[in-house]
Amino acid sequence: METTDLKGKKALVTGGTKGIGKAIADELARAGAQVIVSARTQPEESAHHFIAADLTSPSDVAQLTKEIKDNFGGIDILINNVGGLTTPGGGFSTLTDAHWEQELQLNLLSAIRLDKALLPQMIEQENGVIIHISSVAAKQALWNLNLAYAVSKAALNSYSKALATELADKGVRVLTVAPGATKTPPMEKFINDYAASAGITAEEGMKQLMVQTGGIPMGRMAEPEEVASLVHFLVSPSAAYLTGTIYAIDGGSLPVVS
Ligand SMILES: NC(=O)c1ccc[n+]([C@@H]2O[C@H](COP(=O)([O-])OP(=O)(O)OC[C@H]3O[C@@H](n4cnc5c(N)ncnc54)[C@H](OP(=O)(O)O)[C@@H]3O)[C@@H](O)[C@H]2O)c1
Repeated sequence: METTDLKGKKALVTGGTKGIGKAIADELARAGAQVIVSARTQPEESAHHFIAADLTSPSDVAQLTKEIKDNFGGIDILINNVGGLTTPGGGFSTLTDAHWEQELQLNLLSAIRLDKALLPQMIEQENGVIIHISSVAAKQALWNLNLAYAVSKAALNSYSKALATELADKGVRVLTVAPGATKTPPMEKFINDYAASAGITAEEGMKQLMVQTGGIPMGRMAEPEEVASLVHFLVSPSAAYLTGTIYAIDGGSLPVVS
């Protein structure tokens, strides 16, 4: 979207140094927002203000929040993008308590903690937008590939909906974006690892994975910039009446009406 409709807004994009998060940070900055990004590792180059934080650590979240309050006074737009599939496939018997806890920390509690810390200021100014980056996996858990990840994203969807209802009359909108397969480093690694373990090429691996998930009618993965474009619209004034809803961006892959 070629607009400057976010001029004067301050945005925090978690995990804004790579993949989908980086594309979102760049898109919001192009639209005029002052963008802060956070991640565990400082990138060699970043056009945005960077704050280091591991969002699975409550003390890092507290420090991140303090730095934002001290240096920027608060934010108007929060993109909870940190997350990912970090546990092995193989179904219920392979997953330990530690695996479940790890996925819930990364994909659910990271967002809940940060929302809780930054929301009082948004409520006080009676203005704000929160986006939770979920996944189509939340509605289509694959027992042998992504069980704990999918369940943690389903919990994020449910939390996001309830939070939106709680905040609807306080000037704060809360929305969920659920990408399908998107061309980012972890997705490419996932496909390569799958292909290597099956003794096939990455291209064949991608085809097999697409079959397992019911296929992508558009026949390709999303570009991170396409997800960023949707997020830009959702945080913009044009989306002022949208809250509590989930937006899949998946080339038509979810085989359900939702
Ligand atoms: N790619 C896909 O196909 C796809 C599909 C559906 C949903 N999603 C969702 O989209 C989001 C972004 O995925 P992506 O593929 O763009 O990931 P990515 O390329 O791996 O980027 C992840 C970002 O998060 C940061 N990060 C990771 N763990 C962190 C932690 N514990 N604390 C703070 N920062 C952390 C990373 O930087 P550091 O490593 O330096 O911390 C990086 O900036 C995730 O929520 C993912 O579940 C992705």
